[in-house]
Amino acid sequence: MRKIQFFDTTLRDGEQTPGVNFNVKEKIQIALQLEKWGVDVIEAGFPVASPGDFEAVQHIARQIKKMTVTGLARCQKKDIDRAYDALKEAADPQIHVFLATSDIHMQYKLKMTKAEVLASIKEHVSYARSLFKKVQFSPEDASRTEKDFLLEAVQTAIDAGATIINVPDTVGYSNPTEYGEIFRYLIENIQSETEISFSSHCHDDLGMATANALAAIENGANRVEGAINGIGERAGNTALEEVALALFIRKDFYQCDAGIVLNETKQTSELVSRLSGIPVPKNKAIIGENAYAHESGIHQDGVLKNPETYEIITPTLVGVSQNSLPLGKLSGRHAFTTKLEELGYQMDETDRKEAFKRFKNLADKKKQITDKDLVALLADQYREEIEKWKLADVQVQYNSNGYQGAIVSISSEENDIKVASRIGSGSIQAIYNAIDDLFQQEPQLTEYEIQALTGGEDAQAEVRVTLFDEKTNWEVRGIGVDFDVLHASAKAYVQASNHLIQAIIE
Ligand code: KIV
Ligand code: ZN
Repeated sequence: MRKIQFFDTTLRDGEQTPGVNFNVKEKIQIALQLEKWGVDVIEAGFPVASPGDFEAVQHIARQIKKMTVTGLARCQKKDIDRAYDALKEAADPQIHVFLATSDIHMQYKLKMTKAEVLASIKEHVSYARSLFKKVQFSPEDASRTEKDFLLEAVQTAIDAGATIINVPDTVGYSNPTEYGEIFRYLIENIQSETEISFSSHCHDDLGMATANALAAIENGANRVEGAINGIGERAGNTALEEVALALFIRKDFYQCDAGIVLNETKQTSELVSRLSGIPVPKNKAIIGENAYAHESGIHQDGVLKNPETYEIITPTLVGVSQNSLPLGKLSGRHAFTTKLEELGYQMDETDRKEAFKRFKNLADKKKQITDKDLVALLADQYREEIEKWKLADVQVQYNSNGYQGAIVSISSEENDIKVASRIGSGSIQAIYNAIDDLFQQEPQLTEYEIQALTGGEDAQAEVRVTLFDEKTNWEVRGIGVDFDVLHASAKAYVQASNHLIQAIIE
């Protein structure tokens, strides 16, 4: 069996999903879960992009022991230096250097000639190699690059010291036949005395990201890049969980092994969905809620007689129906800590104490605390730590025959309190108008979604909002969970508004 390495870019390309902003603690949490899932390489961020990205890469580099940790860098000395500073304490550091090679990118974006691009690859990959043992080079927009020039660019990178070549289908333009062919061509034609690894990086603009990644593997790639739940720039990246399962279920065909701990798949997906605020569609392959539901009578009958009639993946294989006992009011610190570990959380004492306090408050109101309740509770805790303003109080005056009124207060860590009152056509509009006054903002509410977090009469409401601010051109998201729909709505809006303040600062 050929070993396929998994390279996860949830924290870098995945974070390029509009409205997704992970904070440092969330990034560490996701990194630890990815390590548990069995990923080989994690792209922790783009260190030169912002101080927050640098800090996250540095923390992940210090904490992760089993995975290679990498950071992205353009072909610029300052990017490579910044990546080096962020990664130097990693157990196994790698740098990921990229430069576009397609005609359209060179002419309009870079305004560089072919010769200049080749010279830049040579200079910067050599410089990266002087600082890192492992250098990965990506010719951006490779799938739209003229074939001979692509080979020349890749050969230049190899001669300068790159040992991993990643071939991005940056705009999701390629199809499996063409994309596989690029790998075959490069592998057959490069010259190198050292072994070179080839990696796929696909976007899902035409819905072919997973198929393209598998075509790359069929044609000699031994590394696949992607993100959990397929999040990422525009239509997203290859969903790594799809590749992991395809390789496992169709081992007969691919003859490859990925070393992924499959029963951690659902857990990993839920964590990323919760912290990114991007819900997993119900019909999503592998981890969607309906992926193991059988609706038609004929299918149900078949599954009851033999599950294999209509089920190629068993839910337990991907951790969907783990024997997960809910906690309750009487659960003690030990059961709580064990459950946190089961869910992949590694917390310091202060965070654990705070989480336990929140759990006890919740358990006073809710009979059974499910994994979903806990993940939501911990996400709230992490978010609140970095939010400048927290929701302090909401009062609503309901009038069945006219406008509704709301008084909202928010408080800061320094104990500043701000209060505003407004009216609106509905209670939520009144609350959101008051919050807009408090944050002195006028964003558009582009999405508002509400659902029950779990089943049962005492289920909490989960509200997800997306706001768009025309002045800064920023899209931000917020999630609020509470027993009360209005309170959950206010929490989600305050969380998103805190992100908008960040947009103004940046
Ligand atoms: O899609 C892309 O081309 C990228 C590169 C930076 C690898 O994300
Ligand atoms: Zn990408």
